Amino acid sequence: MQTYAALHRRSIQDKAGFWAEQAQLIHWHKPVQQVLEYTNPPFARWFVGGETNLCYNAIDRHLAARADQRALLYISTETNEERAYTYRELHAEVNRVAAMMRSLGVQQGDRVIIYMPMIAEACFAMLACARIGAIHSVVFGGFAASSLAARIDDARPTLMMTADGGSRMGKPILYKALVDEALQIAKHPPAQVLIFNRGLDPAMPMTAKRDVDWAQCAASHVGATVPCVWLESNAPSYILYTSGTTGKPKGVQRDVGGYAVALAASMKHIYCGQAGETMFTTSDIGWVVGHSYIIYAPLIAGMTTVMYEGVPTRPDAGIWWKIIQDTKATVMFSAPTAIRVLKKQDPAFLKKYDLSSLRHLFLAGEPLDEPTHQWISDALNVPVIDHYWQTETGWPILSAMPGIEATPIRFGSPSFPVYGYDLKLLRESDATPASANEKAVVAIEPPLPPGCMTTVWGDDARFVNTYFSMFSKKLVYSTFDWGIRDAQGYYFILGRTDDVINVAGHRLGTREIEEAVNMHSAIAECAVVGVADVIKGQMPLAFAVPKDAARIATPELRQTLEKEVLAMVDQQLGAIGRPRTVHFVNLLPKTRSGKTLRRIIAALAEGRDPGDLTTIEDPNSLVQIQHVLKGLAP
Ligand code: PRX
Repeated sequence: MQTYAALHRRSIQDKAGFWAEQAQLIHWHKPVQQVLEYTNPPFARWFVGGETNLCYNAIDRHLAARADQRALLYISTETNEERAYTYRELHAEVNRVAAMMRSLGVQQGDRVIIYMPMIAEACFAMLACARIGAIHSVVFGGFAASSLAARIDDARPTLMMTADGGSRMGKPILYKALVDEALQIAKHPPAQVLIFNRGLDPAMPMTAKRDVDWAQCAASHVGATVPCVWLESNAPSYILYTSGTTGKPKGVQRDVGGYAVALAASMKHIYCGQAGETMFTTSDIGWVVGHSYIIYAPLIAGMTTVMYEGVPTRPDAGIWWKIIQDTKATVMFSAPTAIRVLKKQDPAFLKKYDLSSLRHLFLAGEPLDEPTHQWISDALNVPVIDHYWQTETGWPILSAMPGIEATPIRFGSPSFPVYGYDLKLLRESDATPASANEKAVVAIEPPLPPGCMTTVWGDDARFVNTYFSMFSKKLVYSTFDWGIRDAQGYYFILGRTDDVINVAGHRLGTREIEEAVNMHSAIAECAVVGVADVIKGQMPLAFAVPKDAARIATPELRQTLEKEVLAMVDQQLGAIGRPRTVHFVNLLPKTRSGKTLRRIIAALAEGRDPGDLTTIEDPNSLVQIQHVLKGLAP
């Protein structure tokens, strides 16, 4: 057994040697010619010349040894369904969907937007895209029509795949109706939409020529086989949109070979998931965790993956632990918010089920507070590993790596830099390295390791300008997170440096929410900030200025306008972006040059010291914020 530190050092000092070894974890149709090409910084090309396919590695490669083993287990506590697919069956389903996509004109390199609930067909759709070299872009089902339309216009898909609806807490959420609305707004709508009908929307209208019924289309492709398209390692595999400082989401683009290798290596060194075992990841396919650790990584590792449609507390707060017992899962991956929700429920649920199969619980996506970390560690009696990463990286940046060395877990810390990441803590002022316990920007010395984003879809300049230009003197990737490292080398993440907030593990740009609020015709401008929330980590809070002060003259008028603004956010962005409250003021705190001082607003809203106030143009704006936070008129 090597030590973590030695492996990490080697991965940085001998990148080509280290990653050439990891590359052997996957199948290559054509061998790699050059492990790393880094002639055009910060653009890195991994495993140049090698040809492979994500779907082949996730399914076909396992057919010889594990055709009759379960590959996918779909459990829905929303519709009370459970369906299992062996590797042989998953192979057949994915081939059929690939044939359906081909029949609808999808070619290699075409984009396919998948806007689907957590059902097995969504998994088939993603893998079928990978099989034929089409580029999927999965959009989270919680996003509303205009968010969806913005992604459609950026990706310009040939095909959209959707379902009539999803379900939450037993209530149908109509996806197809929302797709219809998005396609009305979009400037570049796809020619065809493939719809899986679950029977959740009996009144679902179909648009002639454009809409295709999944079941009907599938019926004409029974038993179809579609060979895997061998792709050069650097071909794009998918686009996943994520929020940043601007209102326009960025299309994070990933490659094929680097991603497959990074995921395979992470299953071995970090998650310790073995072929034949079960992994249960509680995320959604609309997020990066779902892409990497519900779909691709567990299948590449030859495991059974669980796709769960439902909430953690229904039918009761024991449901996830029952799934662990029933599937004998060895690896579980979830988010801190979910654990905080479960902490408030009867602890007897954790004792009710046999959890002896479980070796590790991994948590990521938002800060894990110490009491919650401690509570769940005590309750499960297995290592609970807080690990830190981003949509951009696709796999962990900071983590304990029990597959390499069992290092002690420190509550509140995601442990150490993962192999492949040349992590730096840099002072914001001059990019010099921070000392122990000094708060600084978490940065990565390029090249980024395999599996990380290769560019912003269709916009190389935006990739460089967004991620590599925080420091004028140094070309480094900024995570936009603050962090510190203690004297023992443990890292702690202290929140974002930009205007991104994290609501129940969902990453949202406050600018996107502001744009949605501003869509209301009565609003002149607004500021949205994230404030601490006991369960969700953070919640958005809006401060809006009406065009006409008469609209907020009485508490009743303010209430009416707040309702309208919240409805506007639901419609524009989706309920996930809905502010906890909309406060109305007559002016916002700004600098003399007109920059809204969001950090000061956030500090006041959280009851913290707002710090230096000398840059504020009109101090009355602060008085108004303080008044409305107390429930008074501005
Ligand atoms: O701010 C960090 C926070 O979530 C951001 C990335 O979110 P997303 O792109 O949705 O990717 C999630 C992948 C797990 C980061 O920039 N974050 C993520 N993990 C942690 C975290 N903050 C603190 N602790 C973590 N373990």
